Amino acid sequence: MTKASGTVYVCQHCGHQERKWVGKCPDCGEWNSLVEERARPTAAGAKGAAARGGFRLREVKPIQYGEIESQDDARVSSGIAEFDRVLGGGVVPGSLVLIGGEPGIGKSTLIIQVADKLSAQGVRVLYVSGEESERQIKMRGERLNIEAANLYLLPETNLELIFDEIERNEPGVIIVDSIQTVFSSKIESAPGSVSQVREVAGQFLMLAKNRTIPVFLIGHVTKEGNIAGPKALEHIVDTVLYFEGERHYNHRIIRAVKNRFGAANEVGIFEMTGAGLVPVANPSEMFLSERPQGVAGSVVTACMEGTRPVLVEIQALVSDSKYGTGRRMAQGFDANRMALLIAMLEKRVGLHLIGDDVFLNVAGGLEIDEPAADLGVVASIASSFKNKAIDPHTAVFGEVGLTGEVRGAMQAQVRAKETQALGFKKLIMPASNTTGLERLLGLRVVGVRSVEEALDELF
Ligand code: TYD
Ligand code: MG
Repeated sequence: MTKASGTVYVCQHCGHQERKWVGKCPDCGEWNSLVEERARPTAAGAKGAAARGGFRLREVKPIQYGEIESQDDARVSSGIAEFDRVLGGGVVPGSLVLIGGEPGIGKSTLIIQVADKLSAQGVRVLYVSGEESERQIKMRGERLNIEAANLYLLPETNLELIFDEIERNEPGVIIVDSIQTVFSSKIESAPGSVSQVREVAGQFLMLAKNRTIPVFLIGHVTKEGNIAGPKALEHIVDTVLYFEGERHYNHRIIRAVKNRFGAANEVGIFEMTGAGLVPVANPSEMFLSERPQGVAGSVVTACMEGTRPVLVEIQALVSDSKYGTGRRMAQGFDANRMALLIAMLEKRVGLHLIGDDVFLNVAGGLEIDEPAADLGVVASIASSFKNKAIDPHTAVFGEVGLTGEVRGAMQAQVRAKETQALGFKKLIMPASNTTGLERLLGLRVVGVRSVEEALDELF
């Protein structure tokens, strides 16, 4: 072995380490993803806090359980209700939050709006920017009408120098935009590599816990939808928020993929306007605004996004296949689950879909992955197949089993209330969920036990 002992080969996809270079990562199976990295600290280049081995830790001692104060009342509102909601009810002191998303989707816009609101509450915010110069950030700020008297910008990418500045500045909130640009001079690999990103996140975690200040890390997402070294990072941070969907829509959905301080899967819905991100008060209304009426293949289904009900339109297009076997494509819904529902429709309901192409789309770019959307998928496919439109004042929801039975869904009450609030006249839902919903004003609730019953009711 002539190699220095500190040399390792790190998979840039999953963070797996090998002593020797291999073409395929044995852990995640990615090809050509191993890069030589050195974990050995470098004496040269270590300045300030680095020389001391990071920032100065405060002393910690064991605390008796009963003496620990509950943290929930310590949450600070970010001043943006939708953002508080995804965080689980506000910013938790000492939490490390990762915000991921495609370039240009609005991460920096969101975080500077949050910074502005926090600053207005008298919190000192330190915005570490490795991506844009302070002038660029100011330009964005002016567009957003941001005053931010307590906001400090730090265009720096060296972790040790950033920590030095944090000790001097003593901020109440730290923002790092983006984590891929920050590097520790203790590690020789390039900024953005798995080792660097992990080291930097680890250091910020210690800082956040030790000083009980919230730290927001912005992270870029790769083509495959991962933050560089994703698995390594998701373990380290307390909360992972992702910007979902596409840039081509005006709305932006932020989902809590992981949250140690609140419900995972909670979403915040915003609209990107000329003056930044504006919370959407009524998402159902927005998702249904462009719905075609009286057209076959379209149905409204009541979904849950986190703790909130959202009505969305599901569209299906069934057409004769030019080839022997039909193609099946789904956008915003699991394609395998759709295939299963199609097989069920063939076998149990007798819809002959074998030779047909089936395309499914959840309107508005929303992604739904809950079983309660099954009945919507089935209804839209059947509607397009029969070429019969579903009444635009009817909504559906319910899980569908392999024998064609319609199973109960959670939060049926909440879904029904939302359907009623949006002025629908009829709701077709699992029979097992209808208790207590008989008296909804203006909304006729129809409980069904099977897909056949549901289709009878619809057509
Ligand atoms: P940005 O926050 O810079 O994205 P990210 O940090 O995720 O890369 O947002 C960039 C996009 O948002 C850009 O295409 C312009 C648009 N935008 C608006 O539409 N309105 C606004 O008020 C701002 C600030 C940006
Ligand atoms: Mg940005």
